[in-house]
Amino acid sequence: MVKISYTESHKYAAKGAEYEAHYQTEAWERFLWSREQEIILRILDKYFAGRDVDLLDFACGTGRITSLLENRVKTSTGVDVSGSMLAVAGKKLERTEIIEADITQDNVLKGRKFNLITAFRFFLNAEPELRSAAIKALVELLAEDGYFVFNNHHSLGSPWIRLLYARHLRKNPEGIFNVMSVGEMKKLVESVGLEIVEIYPVGFFHPPKVPVPFRLNRAIDSIACRFDFLKRFSESPIAVCRRRKNHGGDASASRK
Ligand SMILES: C[S@@+](CC[C@H](N)C(=O)[O-])C[C@H]1O[C@@H](n2cnc3c(N)ncnc32)[C@H](O)[C@@H]1O
Repeated sequence: MVKISYTESHKYAAKGAEYEAHYQTEAWERFLWSREQEIILRILDKYFAGRDVDLLDFACGTGRITSLLENRVKTSTGVDVSGSMLAVAGKKLERTEIIEADITQDNVLKGRKFNLITAFRFFLNAEPELRSAAIKALVELLAEDGYFVFNNHHSLGSPWIRLLYARHLRKNPEGIFNVMSVGEMKKLVESVGLEIVEIYPVGFFHPPKVPVPFRLNRAIDSIACRFDFLKRFSESPIAVCRRRKNHGGDASASRK
C-alpha cells in the first residue's frame, strides 16, 4: 500500500468548504472550538501581556485560529500547503499575510522570527517524518523569548479515545486512527530543545455515538479542569512550549 503524506490530504478542491462546514455542524467540534478560543485568549493574556505579538499560524487551514488572533496581534502570518483551505481563509482574514508553501521542504520564512507560533490539528495526523520536519522548521522561526502553542485532538489519556483506538486495532488495523500521548507531545518538542511549560486540558466527555449537549459538555469541562488528577484524561489538550533553559534551540544539539 502506498502511503500518502498528510501534506497531500487537504489539497483537493472541495476540502476547504467541507472543513468549514464540519466546524459549523458537528456538536463536538463546536464545543471544542468554544473551549479552544477561551484558552488561546487566556494564553495570550498570561504570556504576552504588554508585549507585541508576531504570530505565525502554521498549517493555518481555513484560518480558524488566525481569525481569532489577527486583530489581537501586531503582525499575523498564516502558512499552509493547501490552496483549497487557504481560499476559505482568504475570505475571512483581513490583516493576515497568507502564504501557500511547504516550509518543511523549503523554509520560505527563514530569517524571520515570530514570538507566537500556533499549530492546531496538525501534529496528531502528521506522519513521524513530517512531525519531525515541521517541528524543526518551526523552531528555527521561533523568537528566543517566544512560545509555541499546539494541540493534540486525540490524546491517548482520554478513556474514549483509548476505547476507539482498541476497537480500531481489533477491527480495522489497516485503516487510519491516529492517537498521540502527552508523553509523545513532550518528546516531540524536546527533540528540538523546547519544553512544555503548561498543558490546558480540553474535552472530557465524548462517549462514542452518544450526542452530548453543548452545555453539558461545557459544564463537565469546567468542573473537570478544577481537579489536577483529572487533567490527563482530556481528549484534546493544548500545550504551551518555550525554549528549554540552557539550550541553544538548535535541532542538532538535541540529538545527543
Ligand atoms: C486539520 S487542518 C487544521 C487547520 C487549522 N490549523 C485548524 O485548526 O483549523 C490541517 C492542515 O494542515 C495542513 N498541512 C498539511 N501538511 C502541511 C505542511 N507540510 N505544511 C503546512 N501545512 C500543512 C493541511 O493543508 C491542513 O490545512
